[in-house]
Amino acid sequence: MNKPVLLITRRVPAAIAARAARDYDARLNPQDTPYSGADLLRLANGADAVLCTPTDRLDAAMIQALPASVRVIATFSVGHDHVDDAAAQARGIAVVNTPDVLSVATAELAFLLILAAARRAGEGERLVRSGHWTGWAPTQLMGTQVSGKRLGIFGMGRIGRELARMAAAFSMQVHYRDVARLPPELEGGAIWHDDDASFLAASDVLSLHAPGNGVTRKWLNAERIAGLPRGAVVVNAARGTLVDDEALIAALRTGQVGYAGLDVYDGEPAIHPGYRALEHVVLLPHLGSATTETRDAMGHIVLDGIDAVLAGREPGNLVR
Ligand code: DGY
Repeated sequence: MNKPVLLITRRVPAAIAARAARDYDARLNPQDTPYSGADLLRLANGADAVLCTPTDRLDAAMIQALPASVRVIATFSVGHDHVDDAAAQARGIAVVNTPDVLSVATAELAFLLILAAARRAGEGERLVRSGHWTGWAPTQLMGTQVSGKRLGIFGMGRIGRELARMAAAFSMQVHYRDVARLPPELEGGAIWHDDDASFLAASDVLSLHAPGNGVTRKWLNAERIAGLPRGAVVVNAARGTLVDDEALIAALRTGQVGYAGLDVYDGEPAIHPGYRALEHVVLLPHLGSATTETRDAMGHIVLDGIDAVLAGREPGNLVR
C-alpha cells in the first residue's frame, strides 16, 4: 500500500525526519531553504499533509490554493498565527500544532532574557569579545537586580505559568493579566489584574506571553508603556506583533523602559533598525523552543497529530 504523502517545509531534527520517512512518502527539505508560496503549492501537489513552520505563511489565499488532497496542516510551533485556521476549517482541513511540549523551554528563554537584559549581559559579552575590557570597576555595566521585584506576565497560559514557577526561585511577586482569572491551582499565588493600568503599575519586569492575533496586535503601545514603573524591564518571547516597536524604542531612549530582551519581532527576520542602535536591548533570533529535547518533542507531537487526522481520529493537538 502506498504511504501517505507528507510535505515538510523546513529541515527538522534527525529523529523526526527518520520517523516521517518511515511512515510517509516524505518530501523533506534537507537544504532548509525557506519555500516561496509558489514553491510550497507546487511541492504540496498530491500531498495528504503539510508540515509547515512559523516561517511559512498559510493565509486564506494559500489555503484555498492548496491541492484537494491536503487533509491536515501541521505547524511545527505552538503559535499558529501564520495559518488561517478559519480558511482551513472552511475547506475541511484540520490544523494541528505543538502545545505543552515547549512551555518549559520557552519560559527558560524568557527568564534568560529577563536576566540578560537586567544584568546587561549582552553589553558585557560584547565588551569582553571586543578586547577593550580593561578590568573590574566599581561602576561598570551596573544593571538592576530582579530578585524580589514584581514580575508582570501578560498571558498566563502554559508558558506564562512555567515562567511564574521559575520566578518563585527568585522571590519575585508574580502579577498577571489575562482575559479571566485562573483557578487557584493554576494561579499558584499569582495576583490577577482585570485592568491594564493596575497590572502595568505592578510590573517592574514585564514579560509577554499572549498569542499573536488581531486583539493583541501592538498591545504594548506608548500609552501602556507609560503605565509601567520607570526603568522597567520588558521581555518578549511570544510574538513580535504584540509590541509597538516605535513606542518601545522611544521608551528605551528616554529611560521609561530601562532594559529590554526580545526573541521575536514584527516582520521577522527583519527587525526595526532602531533596536540595533540600543546597547541595552538583548536581541535573540527566535530561540524560545530551541532545545534538542523540545524540538524532538515538537516533531513527535506534530507527527502524532498528522497520524491521527489521516487515520480518521481526533488529534489531541487540534487547533480549534
Ligand atoms: C512557537 O512554537 O510558536 C514558537 O514561536 C516557535 O517555537
